[in-house]
Amino acid sequence: MKPKVLITGGLGFIFSHVTEYFVQQGWDVVVVDKESTGSHPEIIDGSFKFYHLDVSDEEVIELVKKEAPDYVIHAAAISDVDDSTKKPHRALEKNIAGNVNLFEAVRLLPNLKKFIYVSTDEVYGECEVQKKEGDILHPKNPYSASKAAGSLIHMAYENTYPELRGKIAETRFCNVFGPRQDKRKIISLIKHAIDTNEAIPVHNEGKGYREYVYVKNIPPAIQLILEKGEGVYNLTLNNGFTVTELIGRVEKVTGKNVPTTPSHRPGMDMKYQMNGERIRNELGWKPLYEFDDALAEYFKD
Ligand SMILES: NC(=O)c1ccc[n+]([C@@H]2O[C@H](COP(=O)([O-])OP(=O)(O)OC[C@H]3O[C@@H](n4cnc5c(N)ncnc54)[C@H](O)[C@@H]3O)[C@@H](O)[C@H]2O)c1
Repeated sequence: MKPKVLITGGLGFIFSHVTEYFVQQGWDVVVVDKESTGSHPEIIDGSFKFYHLDVSDEEVIELVKKEAPDYVIHAAAISDVDDSTKKPHRALEKNIAGNVNLFEAVRLLPNLKKFIYVSTDEVYGECEVQKKEGDILHPKNPYSASKAAGSLIHMAYENTYPELRGKIAETRFCNVFGPRQDKRKIISLIKHAIDTNEAIPVHNEGKGYREYVYVKNIPPAIQLILEKGEGVYNLTLNNGFTVTELIGRVEKVTGKNVPTTPSHRPGMDMKYQMNGERIRNELGWKPLYEFDDALAEYFKD
């Protein structure tokens, strides 16, 4: 029997790659997505089952029960910090309701093998030391607060429903980049600036420090966690750069100038960094692409 996986947000930047990966692995794939900002409906080609639905709608609970997948991945979310700051009610209400609905749905699946809640490094907040999975959450904007709410619901459900223990995992990715990312995020903006010669706004003197992972590293990591994981996994290559350093690195790889213009983002977290040892040591995860190989591939045309 083919394994069956249901993916919320499976048309988005990152999880469209995961959807296609599991289709290629021969899995039965069901996607639930409302086709909003960041989505790629062009990948709908009949190779997976698709439901157009907002996961903040309780209807999704019945849908998951009806599909009865072995595995569920909950990645659907309003994923942009600036959007969440402009419309905090919307981001918090939608993302938190989606989280509750998915935890509630998987609780009602007697044959569930694993549920992954997709969280983010931003739940740790700004930090001067590498954060570990057990560290306190300190979200500092509406987006990361909505994601941290899912991490807290994770703890609450494991405690309240012992039958779920061992069946829930959570990922906290650093900044993901690669094909299909829209121009809200820095590396895709840099690519756009090179292609068009339009200057990109560089916030807060380019001092914002982030770690980066290529999107093609994500699908095999997700499969590993679905099959062997339990609990929370940071996912990072531990390669942090300031935006200024990042631009320098891209200029070196491409041999092209990146036009920039200074900008200010109030309340910006200046540094995120995580300890990425757990997934490597306990699950033997190795990235397919190191950072420089990924940059070279992403910027090759
Ligand atoms: N991009 C990153 O660097 C990064 C880093 C860490 C964690 N994450 C997390 O990974 C996940 C995917 O991020 P992304 O960058 O690919 O996002 P994205 O914005 O590109 O895609 C999100 C997808 O979810 C769908 N969606 C949003 N809200 C929905 C709702 N209420 N109901 C149904 N569908 C909905 C959208 O239509 C879209 O297809 C998110 O949960 C995000 O928090 C992203």
